Amino acid sequence: MAAVRDLKSREMAGLGGDDAVELAKRHLIQPWPYAGSVGSEARALIGEGDGIYITDSTGKRLIDGPAGMWCVNVGHRREELARVMYDQAMALSYNTPWYTMNAPSAELAKRIAGHAPGDLSHVFYTTGGSSAVETALRFMQFYNNVRGRPEKKLILSRGGAYHGSTYLSASLNGRPRDRDWMDGADELVVKLASPDPFRRPKGMSIAAFTDFLVDQFRATVARVGADRIGAFVGEPIQASGGVIIPPDGYLRRIREICRDKDILYISDEVVTGFGRLGHVFASGDVFGIGSDMITFAKGVTSGYFPLGGVIISERLLEELRRSNHPDAMFGHGLTYTSHPVGCAVALKNLDLLEESVLAHTLEVAPYFQAQLKTLEELPLVGEVRGVGLMGCVECVADRESKDPLQLDKDVGKRIDAHCHELGLLVRPLINMCVMSPPLVITREQIDDMVGILREGISRTMEDLRKEGVWQG
Ligand SMILES: Cc1ncc(COP(=O)(O)O)c(C=O)c1O
Repeated sequence: MAAVRDLKSREMAGLGGDDAVELAKRHLIQPWPYAGSVGSEARALIGEGDGIYITDSTGKRLIDGPAGMWCVNVGHRREELARVMYDQAMALSYNTPWYTMNAPSAELAKRIAGHAPGDLSHVFYTTGGSSAVETALRFMQFYNNVRGRPEKKLILSRGGAYHGSTYLSASLNGRPRDRDWMDGADELVVKLASPDPFRRPKGMSIAAFTDFLVDQFRATVARVGADRIGAFVGEPIQASGGVIIPPDGYLRRIREICRDKDILYISDEVVTGFGRLGHVFASGDVFGIGSDMITFAKGVTSGYFPLGGVIISERLLEELRRSNHPDAMFGHGLTYTSHPVGCAVALKNLDLLEESVLAHTLEVAPYFQAQLKTLEELPLVGEVRGVGLMGCVECVADRESKDPLQLDKDVGKRIDAHCHELGLLVRPLINMCVMSPPLVITREQIDDMVGILREGISRTMEDLRKEGVWQG
């Protein structure tokens, strides 16, 4: 079987692979392209996946360090998921959600609600994370319109946030490079500081930093007016911002202010949901907070099918049902809302998580974190942080100034290039490397991964020294 797979990889690497590269350069627009190479760029061509590994078109096997885009949670090539996709497509490949429904979507909604904290009881399905955030925000607007509060629509979001690539969800994004050349609905969004303890003001304790963040939140609500703010949207852990873990108690305190001020709390669990921290949802089980809505995507199908959704609180739905406007319509729905194939895959994926993958994640996560932490021995590394099976290695020019830019804006890319040579795919983020492997990773595989990362960073240090960019 392995030989057959190797053969297929080599076929891809030959004619098929070369063709794909040429065709991509001529006809494909990759996500997040630069103007200078838009529509003319080829990226590493991947032919196969198996467990925690992917194979590129040269036949090189790589550990899939970011699990695709934080999504291949149960690993590649799970026959159970492939089979369920086939079976569901043969039974019912699609039905219109406008005036019909299917059983897998209802069954999945029940199972998801069963894992969600508090009174989150109902699911609206989308095609991914951006459309999930978009749906949550449009629901907030509708909810406040029906309640007779059309002025209560502003959205609070934070530096370092990533919430998507549709117009409104992207308007919330707080990483500078995401917005430098793009427009957004800025008039609808109020930005707050990132809860990044590593980059807190010099000399400030963590406790004082937490108070600073909460005070800023409170002061912003007072300045703007709670009667104009509809929602706060936050990732429990800012994933694409560099695995920013907020200080203890911060999320709970923000949640309490939102509840007091009638501001909807939307927890964006597109990355943290479906196992990344060893639980189906992190909001309740890890951070002890309820939410008015939770958005999810990615790991819900382990990336086998594009699916996302919003879980909405019973309290909000009940309020709508009891309103004076029973005929007001939530004019929102997607052709692929409640897709039967996506929901069937998600049900099987949830079985796998519940049967063993969540328990395995909880078991190996401390080892993963401890091994990753050893990279702090390297002088280029300013901090290694993480929780569950997500981690980030942040490089700095020197630990005193923590300056990431003086070093080289793309030091993460340099590390990634070395690691690729050595058999590991890294997610480079400016001066950071983010790791979020498939949750089925074993201790031995964690050793391999961290060993390669150590070597990749060491080689990068040598390069930087040789070029005279850095002398650490
Ligand atoms: C926290 C968060 N929200 C939303 C999104 C957008 O999801 P998608 O790319 O599926 O639209 C992402 C994507 O990385 C994310 O990390």
